[in-house]
Amino acid sequence: MAKKELVIKVVAMPRDINPDGDMFGGWILSQMDLAAYLHVRKHTRARVVTVAIDNIVFHHPVFIGDCLICYAITEKIGRTSITVKIDVIVERKEGHAQQQVTEGRFTFVAIGEDKKPVPLING
Ligand SMILES: CC(C)(COP(=O)(O)OP(=O)(O)OC[C@H]1O[C@@H](n2cnc3c(N)ncnc32)[C@H](O)[C@@H]1OP(=O)(O)O)[C@@H](O)C(=O)NCCC(=O)NCCS
Repeated sequence: MAKKELVIKVVAMPRDINPDGDMFGGWILSQMDLAAYLHVRKHTRARVVTVAIDNIVFHHPVFIGDCLICYAITEKIGRTSITVKIDVIVERKEGHAQQQVTEGRFTFVAIGEDKKPVPLING
C-alpha cells in the first residue's frame, strides 16, 4: 500500500498575502505542485510536466506565520503518467494546533527530449 510522505514544510511569509491579509491560494497551490513534483521524481528519471490539477479544495485559510506541511501519496501509476494526492496541513502560529486546509490531485507525465510522453518506469 502506498505510503503518505511528508514532502514540504514551509512558513507562510508576508510577501505572499492577498489584500485582505490571508495567504494567496496561488502560493498554496505552487507549494502543492512542488510537493507533488518532489514525490513524483522518486518514481522516474525522466523529465516530468504537470498535465492536470484536479479536485482542489481550500477548506480553511492560511495565515502569516503558519507552518504549511504538504503530504503526498501516490494514487495511480499509469504507462506515462502518475497521479499524486496532496494534503496540506497547517500548524498554526498561535497555539500550534494542526488543521487540514487544502487538498488536491496532481497528474504528471514523463516526457522525452521531443517533449512527447515516454514510459514512466524506463524514462
Ligand atoms: C503533458 C503532455 C506532454 C501530454 O501530451 P499528450 O499527447 O496529451 O499525452 P497523451 O494523451 O498521450 O497522455 C499521456 C498521459 O497523460 C494522461 N493525461 C492526459 N491528460 C490528462 C488529464 N487531463 N488528466 C489526467 N491525466 C491525463 C493520459 O491518461 C496518459 O496517461 P498514461 O500513459 O499513464 O495512460 C502535453 O499535454 C503537454 O506538453 N502539456 C503541457 C505541460 C506543461 O507545460 N505543464 C505546465 C508546466 S510543468
